[in-house]
Amino acid sequence: MKVFSEKKQIAPVINTFRANHKTIGYVATMGALHKGHLALVEKALDENDAVVVSIFVNPTQFNNPDDLEKYPRTLEGDVKLLETLSNDILVYAPTVADIYEGKTESEHFDFDGLEHEMEGRFREGHFNGVATVVKRFFEILKPDNAYFGEKDFQQLQIIKKLVEKYQIPVSVIGCRIYREPSGLAMSSRNARLKDAHLKAAPFIYKTLKVAKKRFGTKSANNVTEWVENQFKGQALLELEYFIIADANTLKVSTRKTKNKKYRAFIAVYAGDVRLIDNIALN
Ligand code: PAF
Repeated sequence: MKVFSEKKQIAPVINTFRANHKTIGYVATMGALHKGHLALVEKALDENDAVVVSIFVNPTQFNNPDDLEKYPRTLEGDVKLLETLSNDILVYAPTVADIYEGKTESEHFDFDGLEHEMEGRFREGHFNGVATVVKRFFEILKPDNAYFGEKDFQQLQIIKKLVEKYQIPVSVIGCRIYREPSGLAMSSRNARLKDAHLKAAPFIYKTLKVAKKRFGTKSANNVTEWVENQFKGQALLELEYFIIADANTLKVSTRKTKNKKYRAFIAVYAGDVRLIDNIALN
């Protein structure tokens, strides 16, 4: 397994792939890899001649310094996990200096309002940080196909918008959410959950599934109120938001319109760990 820490090392390898018309699949990660990441990498391996995985905890997308500091960093274990899939995967695990070249700041983006909803409202500057780093990775790694999980559905929509607005020649492929047998969406943050919170957290998806059922017959407002009430009875889980939104614009929906796709989005604190999840409603 080749692990590169500098763009000048990986650039010639990428250029050789491109010169030989080999397709490059790309999976962006912040490390602490789990089965959800591995499923993205497997899909990338199936669909491309070469696969690059980036492992980089991106400082500019954290609005909370404590969250950045506590984010798990497990490069050695991550590389071992990737080796279970293939020894040919290229890992790019750069330093902050290699990506930001002395100026650790986000660019400012306009994503036609997508960036102001949900996570954008609760995590100031988050999507500018995400888009800055993903745009750099696309420039450095020049992938044909890039795979992102639907757990971060808003991020996925924003990356699609980034590619469209900047005409970056990459196909952005959304992949379904991978869940623990308990229903809890897989996330690197789950590793930080205390036992009691880990036991309580499957309530999030359980509630999303019931909300989906209720959405068949009830209004968005009614379902939202119902979910908010469910969380009032949960001592270990604190609801930050539950929103039913148009799956394209991500704007909150209060009434249903035929032929529109809706999705429910949720953010919950389990102790000091912030978890997000979402579900297609129709
Ligand atoms: O989803 C993530 O892990 C990150 O936001 C990403 C896309 C790797 C950018 O840092």
